[in-house]
Amino acid sequence: MTIDHYLSASTAGIGTAALPAAGAPEPGALLAPLSGVTDLALRRIARRLGATAVVSEMVAAEDFARGTAEARLRAEGEGVLPHVVQLAGCDPRWMAEGARLAEASGADAIDVNMGCPAKKVTGGEAGSALMRDLDHAARLLAAVRGAVSVPVTVKMRLGWDDASRNAPDLARRAQDLGLSAVTVHGRTRQQFYTGRADWAAIRAVTEAVTVPVVANGDVGSLEEARACLAASGARAVMIGRAAVGRPWLVGAVAAGLRGAAAPRLTACQKADLAAEHYEGLLALYGTGMGVRHARKHLAAYADHAGGLSAPERMRLVTTTDPAEALALLRRAFAQAPAEAAPAAKQAAPAAKQAA
Ligand SMILES: Cc1cc2nc3c(=O)[nH]c(=O)nc-3n(C[C@H](O)[C@H](O)[C@H](O)COP(=O)(O)O)c2cc1C
Repeated sequence: MTIDHYLSASTAGIGTAALPAAGAPEPGALLAPLSGVTDLALRRIARRLGATAVVSEMVAAEDFARGTAEARLRAEGEGVLPHVVQLAGCDPRWMAEGARLAEASGADAIDVNMGCPAKKVTGGEAGSALMRDLDHAARLLAAVRGAVSVPVTVKMRLGWDDASRNAPDLARRAQDLGLSAVTVHGRTRQQFYTGRADWAAIRAVTEAVTVPVVANGDVGSLEEARACLAASGARAVMIGRAAVGRPWLVGAVAAGLRGAAAPRLTACQKADLAAEHYEGLLALYGTGMGVRHARKHLAAYADHAGGLSAPERMRLVTTTDPAEALALLRRAFAQAPAEAAPAAKQAAPAAKQAA
């Protein structure tokens, strides 16, 4: 799933001179797809700050193929390279059509969602429900693989439930069909987001395939990333909730895994990034919708920065005045306690609620 992994895969490469050379696998850290959260503005910032790759929110393939405005926004990738679009659905024809259109709109890779546990997704036999019928899952992957020339990857869970931990089988089938990489969230669907992600259980997948495996679940720091890679044998980690309100985290972990020092950002630089994200949301969605969409991000930035009183925080997440929101956001960082609790250990409350 990382860029060098894509390029070293047997499928067509991204073919962009700016990308690193193939054949030198190094550990990476990717920003996870988070529906309603990993909007274009966030992905742009995370990638610029060194995330190995970023993945769009899941896009319903049929909606995208039919051209709905929401699906188009979710799949937007201007300024993000590589631009990875994640598609969700259960009908191979719509998935293939969605993939074709995504490639035509500039996607550098397509990721297939086989991990979403939400009832409204699994009820339609999409997301993690596909892990209940691997023959159908394979038909769907084959349809997507056959529809595009860019790399195709798949994101899954350990299985539907404890009695059917079939991620290694699905990963093997994906590899045989020509997919380039596999991401595994170390929980079953029936666990939703409870308990701890089981990184060691992902090892059954890394031992079953030769394509790169990305391990996901509960990674929120460099130490956790190292532990996750050691337990799973994966080539990269994928970070979701811990990066909400801290888009710099993924790049910092990626740098640390390579043995490089991540630049230490000042509170002022973080405030600038949070403001850039907020303004990017208003530009992407328009002010009315952007202000509402931004609330979960504003809450997460404020909670990680730690500088606002309870009434100020309340005002930040309820105001409809962008100038006031920006002023409060900057105050959250300016008034941040000098030594806040280690950022990587803090939870991302807004995203956890969203889950
Ligand atoms: C709010 C929210 C939205 C999510 N949306 C998606 C999605 O669109 N596609 C997907 O494959 N996984 C989605 N996930 C799952 C995450 O990508 C990830 O697998 C999970 O959160 C575990 O990683 P983490 O502990 O680093 O957050 C979502 C999770 C959350 C909490």
